[in-house]
Amino acid sequence: MYDIEKIRKDFPILQQKINGKRNTFLDTAASAQKPQAVIDAVVKMYSQTYANVHRGSYYLSEMATSAYENARRIVKDFINAKSEKEIIFTRSATEGMNLVASSWGLNNLKAGDEVLLSEAEHHGNLVPWQNTCAKTGATLRFFKVNDDGSFDIENFYKLLNPKVKMVAVTGMSNILGTVFPVKEIAHAAHLAGALCLVDACQSIVHTVTDVQDIGCDFMAFSGHKLYAPSGIGCLYGKYDLLCSMAPYQFGGDMIENVTYEKTTFTTPPARFEAGTPAIVQAVGFGVALQYLQAIGMKNIAAHEHELVKYTNERLKEIPELKIIGTAADKGGVFSFALGNIHPQDVAFILDKEGVSVRTGHHCAQPIVNRMGYNSLARASLGLYTNNEDIDCFVNALKKAQTFFKQA
Ligand code: ALA
Repeated sequence: MYDIEKIRKDFPILQQKINGKRNTFLDTAASAQKPQAVIDAVVKMYSQTYANVHRGSYYLSEMATSAYENARRIVKDFINAKSEKEIIFTRSATEGMNLVASSWGLNNLKAGDEVLLSEAEHHGNLVPWQNTCAKTGATLRFFKVNDDGSFDIENFYKLLNPKVKMVAVTGMSNILGTVFPVKEIAHAAHLAGALCLVDACQSIVHTVTDVQDIGCDFMAFSGHKLYAPSGIGCLYGKYDLLCSMAPYQFGGDMIENVTYEKTTFTTPPARFEAGTPAIVQAVGFGVALQYLQAIGMKNIAAHEHELVKYTNERLKEIPELKIIGTAADKGGVFSFALGNIHPQDVAFILDKEGVSVRTGHHCAQPIVNRMGYNSLARASLGLYTNNEDIDCFVNALKKAQTFFKQA
């Protein structure tokens, strides 16, 4: 049984009041709150076992190195990669996608090649490819999403052709909530002779992720959306591909041999982890994933599914509220417009009621514009979200409506 009240108690921040009201945190898609287990692990490491990694033959450095490398194994198991050598710790998912767009893209793309993205990409999986295409002369194309935010399969297959060398797609849109069929997309990309990168920032929180089953070549995700500290992310890459790629950044810990004239580089993943990494964040990342595994990703997905249904039902009480993104396969992300009230004003009233939602273009400006808006408000759910959160949200929306009718 999914014991939501017990889970909520694991998150100290949820116990505090916001503006004197119950803390209704509905911005987990931007960054998730942290369970006590992660907070404790971070404090414990800084208090007892902290030192730099891979650099010292003394007790503390060995403890830190072992914890850091253990975190890599936990990430590997979480996504069912073949080997921990396929797990590169990055600063963020964005860094992972920049790494691929630079290290693979700049060295493998040329004029006449195409890179295919969906219309719904986050800037983190769009802007790096714009840069790479501008530098290499490759062409960037976008397959469509339907007006309800669902995957336009026909348009995808129409644009997929032998010139496409990379299909880079989100696993779940941070605006629309649409879950993309990444296994089918990766398979189709391979048949066309292209590689496939999945931006799994949102999807990895939403469901069980198995990179071998999906078959993608690269997958990027961040720790902070997975209830881990910020400043840590992961790029998964098939090992042979990683071995064929040049370093992305240069410096300590990624070398094999250095002379004044020349450097040779070590093998992945260290080749792509120049400099002192985010040691404690990585360890916190591992603890967060163990926390999720203890609850079970299938149970988390089932809880989210029920909550999405409940939220959809309750939001029907507000006819002026339009949800942007209503695909059948949709995760716990509700971007919305409330009549003609500016999203910023909606969020302001909600905040007074203790309800936190995000507003703006959510780092995915083109799809917000494509849906006919400059700015949207967005409520997003997490593993700790309960029906009471949704009730408070709906009540606060009704208050916002009343306030602006009177104003
Ligand atoms: N990408 C994050 C979001 O959707 C920050 O809010």
